[in-house]
Amino acid sequence: MEHTYYRDTRIEVDLDAIEHNITQFRRILPVETKILAAVKADAYGHGAVTVSLAAISAGASHLGVAFVDEGIQLREAQIRAPVLVFGYIPPHAIEAALSFNLTFTVFDLNHVRQIEQVAQRLRKTAKVHLKVDTGMGRLGIAPSEVISFINQVNNLKWVELEGIYTHFATADDENSDYFDHQLHLFEEILQQLDELGIEIPLRHAANSAGALRMKQKWCNLVRIGISMYGFQDVSNPDVKLKRALSLKSSITQLKCLPKGSGISYGKTYTTSTDEWIATIPIGYGDGLPRHLSNKGTALVGGTRVPIVGRVCMDQVMLRVNKAMPVAVHDEVVWIGKQGAEEITADEIAEQIDTIHYEIVTRLGSRVPRLYFQNGQLVSTRNALHSEEGNKR
Ligand SMILES: Cc1ncc(COP(=O)(O)O)c(C=O)c1O
Repeated sequence: MEHTYYRDTRIEVDLDAIEHNITQFRRILPVETKILAAVKADAYGHGAVTVSLAAISAGASHLGVAFVDEGIQLREAQIRAPVLVFGYIPPHAIEAALSFNLTFTVFDLNHVRQIEQVAQRLRKTAKVHLKVDTGMGRLGIAPSEVISFINQVNNLKWVELEGIYTHFATADDENSDYFDHQLHLFEEILQQLDELGIEIPLRHAANSAGALRMKQKWCNLVRIGISMYGFQDVSNPDVKLKRALSLKSSITQLKCLPKGSGISYGKTYTTSTDEWIATIPIGYGDGLPRHLSNKGTALVGGTRVPIVGRVCMDQVMLRVNKAMPVAVHDEVVWIGKQGAEEITADEIAEQIDTIHYEIVTRLGSRVPRLYFQNGQLVSTRNALHSEEGNKR
Protein backbone atom coordinates (compact mmCIF):
# COMPACT_ATOMS: atom_id res chain seq x y z
CA MET A 1 0.00 0.00 0.00
CA GLU A 2 1.25 3.46 -0.90
CA HIS A 3 1.86 5.88 1.93
CA THR A 4 -0.79 8.57 2.15
CA TYR A 5 1.04 10.39 4.92
CA TYR A 6 4.62 11.34 5.52
CA ARG A 7 4.69 12.09 9.23
CA ASP A 8 6.37 10.07 11.91
CA THR A 9 3.39 10.57 14.21
CA ARG A 10 0.18 8.65 13.70
CA ILE A 11 -2.96 7.38 15.38
CA GLU A 12 -3.63 3.69 14.98
CA VAL A 13 -7.23 2.56 15.30
CA ASP A 14 -8.07 -1.09 15.80
CA LEU A 15 -11.38 -1.59 14.00
CA ASP A 16 -11.71 -5.07 15.49
CA ALA A 17 -11.83 -3.41 18.93
CA ILE A 18 -14.66 -1.10 17.80
CA GLU A 19 -16.59 -4.08 16.47
CA HIS A 20 -15.85 -6.13 19.59
CA ASN A 21 -17.13 -3.33 21.84
CA ILE A 22 -20.37 -2.91 19.91
CA THR A 23 -20.84 -6.69 19.98
CA GLN A 24 -20.41 -6.65 23.77
CA PHE A 25 -23.33 -4.23 24.07
CA ARG A 26 -25.38 -6.17 21.53
CA ARG A 27 -24.99 -9.22 23.77
CA ILE A 28 -26.20 -7.60 27.00
CA LEU A 29 -29.04 -5.57 25.50
CA PRO A 30 -32.51 -6.91 24.67
CA VAL A 31 -32.77 -7.85 20.97
CA GLU A 32 -35.24 -5.09 20.27
CA THR A 33 -32.93 -2.38 21.68
CA LYS A 34 -31.19 -0.44 18.95
CA ILE A 35 -27.66 0.88 19.24
CA LEU A 36 -26.78 4.42 18.21
CA ALA A 37 -23.04 4.91 17.83
CA ALA A 38 -21.96 8.39 18.99
CA VAL A 39 -19.44 9.49 16.38
CA LYS A 40 -19.45 13.23 17.12
CA ALA A 41 -16.15 15.10 17.41
CA ASP A 42 -14.62 12.92 14.69
CA ALA A 43 -15.64 9.78 16.58
CA TYR A 44 -13.91 11.04 19.74
CA GLY A 45 -10.75 11.54 17.69
CA HIS A 46 -10.81 8.09 16.09
CA GLY A 47 -12.13 9.22 12.69
CA ALA A 48 -15.88 9.52 12.10
CA VAL A 49 -16.34 7.87 8.71
CA THR A 50 -14.36 4.69 9.24
CA VAL A 51 -15.62 4.23 12.80
CA SER A 52 -19.23 4.69 11.63
CA LEU A 53 -18.79 1.98 9.01
CA ALA A 54 -17.23 -0.39 11.56
CA ALA A 55 -19.98 0.33 14.09
CA ILE A 56 -22.71 -0.29 11.54
CA SER A 57 -21.13 -3.53 10.39
CA ALA A 58 -21.00 -4.65 14.05
CA GLY A 59 -24.70 -3.99 14.64
CA ALA A 60 -25.25 -0.28 15.32
CA SER A 61 -28.31 0.96 13.46
CA HIS A 62 -28.07 4.70 14.17
CA LEU A 63 -25.34 7.32 14.39
CA GLY A 64 -25.15 10.42 16.57
CA VAL A 65 -23.33 13.68 15.90
CA ALA A 66 -23.30 17.09 17.53
CA PHE A 67 -23.64 19.36 14.49
CA VAL A 68 -25.06 19.34 10.98
CA ASP A 69 -21.60 19.55 9.38
CA GLU A 70 -20.63 16.32 11.10
CA GLY A 71 -23.75 14.67 9.69
CA ILE A 72 -22.98 15.94 6.18
CA GLN A 73 -19.49 14.44 6.45
CA LEU A 74 -21.10 11.03 6.98
CA ARG A 75 -23.57 11.47 4.14
CA GLU A 76 -20.81 12.56 1.77
CA ALA A 77 -19.10 9.27 2.60
CA GLN A 78 -22.28 7.50 1.36
CA ILE A 79 -23.33 6.46 4.88
CA ARG A 80 -27.10 6.09 4.83
CA ALA A 81 -27.88 5.06 8.41
CA PRO A 82 -30.15 7.41 10.37
CA VAL A 83 -28.08 10.22 11.90
CA LEU A 84 -29.38 12.07 14.96
CA VAL A 85 -27.95 15.55 15.54
CA PHE A 86 -27.76 15.92 19.34
CA GLY A 87 -27.24 19.68 19.22
CA TYR A 88 -29.45 22.59 18.17
CA ILE A 89 -29.79 23.02 14.42
CA PRO A 90 -29.93 26.78 13.84
CA PRO A 91 -32.41 28.25 11.32
CA HIS A 92 -29.76 28.73 8.64
CA ALA A 93 -28.87 25.00 8.84
CA ILE A 94 -32.41 23.55 8.71
CA GLU A 95 -32.51 23.21 4.93
CA ALA A 96 -29.12 21.47 4.87
CA ALA A 97 -30.18 19.10 7.65
CA LEU A 98 -33.31 18.18 5.70
CA SER A 99 -31.50 17.77 2.41
CA PHE A 100 -29.02 15.39 4.01
CA ASN A 101 -31.74 13.45 5.87
CA LEU A 102 -30.45 14.30 9.32
CA THR A 103 -32.69 13.90 12.35
CA PHE A 104 -33.34 16.97 14.50
CA THR A 105 -33.21 17.34 18.27
CA VAL A 106 -35.98 19.72 19.35
CA PHE A 107 -36.91 21.48 22.58
CA ASP A 108 -38.41 24.78 21.43
CA LEU A 109 -41.76 25.15 19.65
CA ASN A 110 -40.68 28.17 17.62
CA HIS A 111 -37.79 26.12 16.32
CA VAL A 112 -40.13 23.26 15.43
CA ARG A 113 -42.34 25.70 13.52
CA GLN A 114 -39.31 26.96 11.61
CA ILE A 115 -38.46 23.35 10.75
CA GLU A 116 -42.06 22.78 9.61
CA GLN A 117 -41.90 25.80 7.27
CA VAL A 118 -38.68 24.69 5.59
CA ALA A 119 -39.87 21.07 5.41
CA GLN A 120 -43.10 22.16 3.76
CA ARG A 121 -41.22 24.27 1.22
CA LEU A 122 -38.94 21.33 0.39
CA ARG A 123 -41.84 18.83 0.54
CA LYS A 124 -39.77 16.69 2.84
CA THR A 125 -40.87 15.40 6.24
CA ALA A 126 -38.53 16.35 9.07
CA LYS A 127 -37.82 13.66 11.64
CA VAL A 128 -37.36 15.07 15.12
CA HIS A 129 -36.52 13.73 18.58
CA LEU A 130 -37.81 15.67 21.56
CA LYS A 131 -35.18 16.27 24.23
CA VAL A 132 -36.36 16.28 27.83
CA ASP A 133 -34.23 17.81 30.57
CA THR A 134 -34.59 15.45 33.51
CA GLY A 135 -31.61 16.90 35.36
CA MET A 136 -28.65 17.47 33.07
CA GLY A 137 -29.52 21.17 32.85
CA ARG A 138 -28.30 21.38 29.26
CA LEU A 139 -30.76 21.02 26.35
CA GLY A 140 -34.35 19.97 26.76
CA ILE A 141 -37.82 20.91 27.98
CA ALA A 142 -39.06 20.35 31.51
CA PRO A 143 -40.89 17.04 32.10
CA SER A 144 -44.07 19.00 32.92
CA GLU A 145 -44.13 20.53 29.42
CA VAL A 146 -43.79 17.28 27.49
CA ILE A 147 -47.42 16.40 26.80
CA SER A 148 -48.46 19.83 25.61
CA PHE A 149 -45.31 20.09 23.47
CA ILE A 150 -46.04 16.76 21.83
CA ASN A 151 -49.65 17.66 21.16
CA GLN A 152 -48.58 20.80 19.34
CA VAL A 153 -45.88 19.02 17.33
CA ASN A 154 -48.35 16.32 16.34
CA ASN A 155 -50.53 19.01 14.74
CA LEU A 156 -47.79 19.83 12.28
CA LYS A 157 -47.92 18.15 8.89
CA TRP A 158 -44.26 18.12 7.89
CA VAL A 159 -42.70 17.23 11.23
CA GLU A 160 -42.65 13.65 12.43
CA LEU A 161 -41.94 13.03 16.11
CA GLU A 162 -39.81 9.93 15.77
CA GLY A 163 -38.11 9.96 19.15
CA ILE A 164 -38.04 11.25 22.71
CA TYR A 165 -34.91 11.28 24.83
CA THR A 166 -33.02 12.52 27.83
CA HIS A 167 -29.39 12.54 28.94
CA PHE A 168 -27.92 11.46 32.26
CA ALA A 169 -25.58 13.70 34.24
CA THR A 170 -24.11 11.09 36.57
CA ALA A 171 -24.44 7.70 34.86
CA ASP A 172 -20.79 6.91 35.60
CA ASP A 173 -20.96 7.82 39.32
CA GLU A 174 -20.79 4.99 41.80
CA ASN A 175 -23.69 6.47 43.70
CA SER A 176 -26.74 5.93 41.50
CA ASP A 177 -29.24 8.14 43.36
CA TYR A 178 -29.29 10.98 40.84
CA PHE A 179 -29.17 8.57 37.90
CA ASP A 180 -32.17 6.72 39.36
CA HIS A 181 -33.98 10.02 39.90
CA GLN A 182 -33.48 11.09 36.25
CA LEU A 183 -34.45 7.66 35.00
CA HIS A 184 -37.56 7.68 37.15
CA LEU A 185 -38.63 11.09 35.78
CA PHE A 186 -38.13 9.89 32.21
CA GLU A 187 -39.92 6.60 32.73
CA GLU A 188 -42.84 8.43 34.28
CA ILE A 189 -43.14 10.48 31.10
CA LEU A 190 -43.00 7.35 28.91
CA GLN A 191 -45.61 5.66 31.07
CA GLN A 192 -47.86 8.71 30.77
CA LEU A 193 -47.48 8.66 26.97
CA ASP A 194 -48.48 5.00 26.97
CA GLU A 195 -51.55 5.75 29.05
CA LEU A 196 -52.53 8.57 26.68
CA GLY A 197 -51.99 6.32 23.66
CA ILE A 198 -49.25 8.61 22.28
CA GLU A 199 -46.82 6.46 20.35
CA ILE A 200 -43.25 7.62 19.77
CA PRO A 201 -41.18 4.93 18.08
CA LEU A 202 -37.77 5.65 19.64
CA ARG A 203 -37.30 6.23 23.37
CA HIS A 204 -33.78 6.65 24.69
CA ALA A 205 -31.81 7.80 27.69
CA ALA A 206 -28.64 5.77 28.15
CA ASN A 207 -25.14 6.74 27.17
CA SER A 208 -22.38 4.12 27.60
CA ALA A 209 -22.39 4.18 31.39
CA GLY A 210 -26.19 4.17 31.47
CA ALA A 211 -26.31 1.17 29.13
CA LEU A 212 -23.79 -0.67 31.31
CA ARG A 213 -26.18 -0.17 34.24
CA MET A 214 -28.96 -1.71 32.13
CA LYS A 215 -32.04 -0.59 33.97
CA GLN A 216 -34.06 1.31 31.41
CA LYS A 217 -36.87 -1.05 30.56
CA TRP A 218 -39.00 1.63 28.87
CA CYS A 219 -36.34 2.52 26.33
CA ASN A 220 -35.53 0.86 23.02
CA LEU A 221 -32.33 2.61 21.94
CA VAL A 222 -29.00 3.32 23.66
CA ARG A 223 -26.43 5.93 22.62
CA ILE A 224 -22.97 4.44 22.97
CA GLY A 225 -19.94 6.71 22.73
CA ILE A 226 -16.94 6.29 24.99
CA SER A 227 -17.38 2.54 25.49
CA MET A 228 -17.40 1.89 21.76
CA TYR A 229 -13.83 3.20 21.89
CA GLY A 230 -13.02 0.78 24.73
CA PHE A 231 -13.42 2.83 27.90
CA GLN A 232 -15.54 1.27 30.62
CA ASP A 233 -16.55 3.66 33.38
CA VAL A 234 -19.11 1.38 35.04
CA SER A 235 -18.29 -2.22 35.85
CA ASN A 236 -20.45 -4.91 34.35
CA PRO A 237 -19.39 -8.53 34.75
CA ASP A 238 -20.68 -9.41 31.27
CA VAL A 239 -18.76 -6.73 29.42
CA LYS A 240 -15.06 -6.64 28.62
CA LEU A 241 -14.03 -3.84 26.30
CA LYS A 242 -10.94 -3.31 24.19
CA ARG A 243 -9.13 -0.02 23.62
CA ALA A 244 -9.25 1.01 19.99
CA LEU A 245 -6.75 3.87 19.76
CA SER A 246 -2.97 4.13 20.02
CA LEU A 247 -0.92 7.28 19.48
CA LYS A 248 2.61 6.72 18.22
CA SER A 249 5.60 8.65 16.93
CA SER A 250 9.23 7.89 16.31
CA ILE A 251 12.48 9.50 17.37
CA THR A 252 13.73 12.28 15.09
CA GLN A 253 17.01 13.13 16.83
CA LEU A 254 18.96 11.64 19.68
CA LYS A 255 21.77 13.54 21.32
CA CYS A 256 23.79 13.70 24.48
CA LEU A 257 23.57 17.14 26.05
CA PRO A 258 26.13 18.14 28.68
CA LYS A 259 25.16 18.96 32.25
CA GLY A 260 23.50 22.38 32.53
CA SER A 261 21.84 22.37 29.08
CA GLY A 262 18.42 23.95 28.79
CA ILE A 263 15.59 22.09 27.10
CA SER A 264 12.71 23.74 25.18
CA TYR A 265 10.93 27.09 25.50
CA GLY A 266 11.35 28.92 28.77
CA LYS A 267 14.23 26.65 29.78
CA THR A 268 12.03 24.97 32.37
CA TYR A 269 14.30 21.91 32.39
CA THR A 270 18.07 21.85 32.72
CA THR A 271 20.10 18.68 32.43
CA SER A 272 21.59 17.74 35.78
CA THR A 273 24.31 15.59 34.24
CA ASP A 274 25.15 14.46 30.70
CA GLU A 275 21.74 13.40 29.44
CA TRP A 276 20.45 11.66 26.32
CA ILE A 277 17.62 13.68 24.87
CA ALA A 278 15.29 12.37 22.16
CA THR A 279 13.33 14.84 20.03
CA ILE A 280 9.91 13.61 18.91
CA PRO A 281 7.73 15.18 16.17
CA ILE A 282 4.48 15.70 18.09
CA GLY A 283 3.20 18.68 20.04
CA TYR A 284 0.20 20.49 21.38
CA GLY A 285 -0.75 21.27 17.76
CA ASP A 286 -1.55 17.57 17.52
CA GLY A 287 -3.42 17.41 20.81
CA LEU A 288 -0.56 16.35 23.07
CA PRO A 289 -1.48 18.47 26.09
CA ARG A 290 1.00 21.25 26.92
CA HIS A 291 0.18 20.53 30.56
CA LEU A 292 2.26 17.37 30.16
CA SER A 293 5.39 19.56 30.06
CA ASN A 294 7.92 18.12 32.56
CA LYS A 295 5.18 15.74 33.68
CA GLY A 296 4.11 13.24 31.03
CA THR A 297 5.74 10.03 29.92
CA ALA A 298 6.08 7.97 26.75
CA LEU A 299 7.16 4.42 26.02
CA VAL A 300 10.47 3.89 24.28
CA GLY A 301 12.01 0.44 24.01
CA GLY A 302 9.28 -0.90 26.29
CA THR A 303 10.21 1.50 29.11
CA ARG A 304 8.59 4.65 30.41
CA VAL A 305 10.63 7.80 29.82
CA PRO A 306 9.80 11.34 30.95
CA ILE A 307 8.96 14.43 28.94
CA VAL A 308 11.56 17.10 29.70
CA GLY A 309 10.92 20.79 29.13
CA ARG A 310 7.82 22.28 27.60
CA VAL A 311 5.73 20.56 24.99
CA CYS A 312 6.08 22.71 21.83
CA MET A 313 3.51 23.04 19.07
CA ASP A 314 5.06 20.34 16.87
CA GLN A 315 7.82 18.75 18.92
CA VAL A 316 8.66 17.53 22.37
CA MET A 317 11.72 16.11 24.11
CA LEU A 318 12.12 12.92 26.14
CA ARG A 319 14.98 11.99 28.43
CA VAL A 320 16.15 8.51 27.52
CA ASN A 321 18.75 6.33 29.09
CA LYS A 322 21.58 5.55 26.70
CA ALA A 323 21.98 2.23 28.43
CA MET A 324 18.68 1.41 26.71
CA PRO A 325 18.87 0.11 23.16
CA VAL A 326 17.47 3.27 21.62
CA ALA A 327 18.07 4.78 18.20
CA VAL A 328 16.73 7.41 15.80
CA HIS A 329 13.49 6.18 14.12
CA ASP A 330 12.61 3.96 17.10
CA GLU A 331 8.92 3.83 17.98
CA VAL A 332 7.55 6.09 20.73
CA VAL A 333 4.15 5.26 22.21
CA TRP A 334 2.11 8.04 23.84
CA ILE A 335 -1.13 6.12 24.22
CA GLY A 336 -1.19 2.35 23.91
CA LYS A 337 1.02 -0.63 24.52
CA GLN A 338 4.68 -1.32 23.93
CA GLY A 339 6.05 -4.59 25.22
CA ALA A 340 4.63 -5.20 28.65
CA GLU A 341 3.99 -1.51 29.32
CA GLU A 342 0.88 0.53 28.55
CA ILE A 343 -0.02 4.20 28.81
CA THR A 344 -3.76 4.83 28.81
CA ALA A 345 -5.68 7.97 28.00
CA ASP A 346 -7.13 7.70 31.52
CA GLU A 347 -3.65 7.94 33.00
CA ILE A 348 -2.82 11.03 30.96
CA ALA A 349 -6.17 12.55 31.90
CA GLU A 350 -5.43 12.07 35.56
CA GLN A 351 -2.01 13.72 35.21
CA ILE A 352 -3.51 16.90 33.86
CA ASP A 353 -6.79 16.83 35.76
CA THR A 354 -9.18 16.11 32.93
CA ILE A 355 -11.08 13.10 31.55
CA HIS A 356 -10.15 10.42 29.00
CA TYR A 357 -12.86 11.79 26.68
CA GLU A 358 -10.88 15.00 26.29
CA ILE A 359 -7.53 13.30 25.75
CA VAL A 360 -8.67 11.30 22.71
CA THR A 361 -11.06 13.94 21.35
CA ARG A 362 -8.42 16.66 21.27
CA LEU A 363 -6.12 14.60 19.01
CA GLY A 364 -5.83 16.84 16.01
CA SER A 365 -6.89 16.38 12.42
CA ARG A 366 -3.32 16.79 11.17
CA VAL A 367 -2.35 13.46 12.72
CA PRO A 368 -2.93 10.70 10.15
CA ARG A 369 -5.26 7.88 11.18
CA LEU A 370 -4.25 4.34 10.29
CA TYR A 371 -6.96 1.68 10.45
CA PHE A 372 -6.20 -1.93 11.25
CA GLN A 373 -8.27 -5.07 10.90
CA ASN A 374 -6.98 -8.54 11.79
CA GLY A 375 -3.65 -6.87 12.50
CA GLN A 376 -3.43 -5.58 8.91
CA LEU A 377 -3.40 -1.96 7.82
CA VAL A 378 -6.62 -1.60 5.80
CA SER A 379 -6.89 2.16 5.24
CA THR A 380 -5.41 5.51 6.17
CA ARG A 381 -6.85 8.96 6.54
CA ASN A 382 -4.90 12.13 6.15
CA ALA A 383 -6.98 15.28 6.53
CA LEU A 384 -4.17 17.44 5.13
CA HIS A 385 -4.13 16.20 1.58
CA SER A 386 -5.85 13.64 -0.55
CA GLU A 387 -4.52 10.40 -1.93
CA GLU A 388 -4.48 12.12 -5.32
CA GLY A 389 -2.21 14.79 -3.88
CA ASN A 390 0.20 12.09 -2.83
CA LYS A 391 0.53 10.66 -6.30
CA ARG A 392 1.50 13.93 -7.95
C1 LIG B 1 -26.70 13.33 23.88
C2 LIG B 1 -25.57 12.36 24.01
N1 LIG B 1 -25.84 11.05 23.97
C3 LIG B 1 -24.87 10.12 24.08
C4 LIG B 1 -23.55 10.47 24.26
C5 LIG B 1 -22.52 9.39 24.41
O1 LIG B 1 -22.02 9.41 25.71
P1 LIG B 1 -20.85 8.41 26.16
O2 LIG B 1 -19.66 8.79 25.35
O3 LIG B 1 -20.67 8.71 27.60
O4 LIG B 1 -21.33 7.05 25.87
C6 LIG B 1 -23.24 11.82 24.34
C7 LIG B 1 -21.85 12.23 24.56
O5 LIG B 1 -21.53 13.05 25.36
C8 LIG B 1 -24.27 12.80 24.19
O6 LIG B 1 -24.00 14.10 24.24
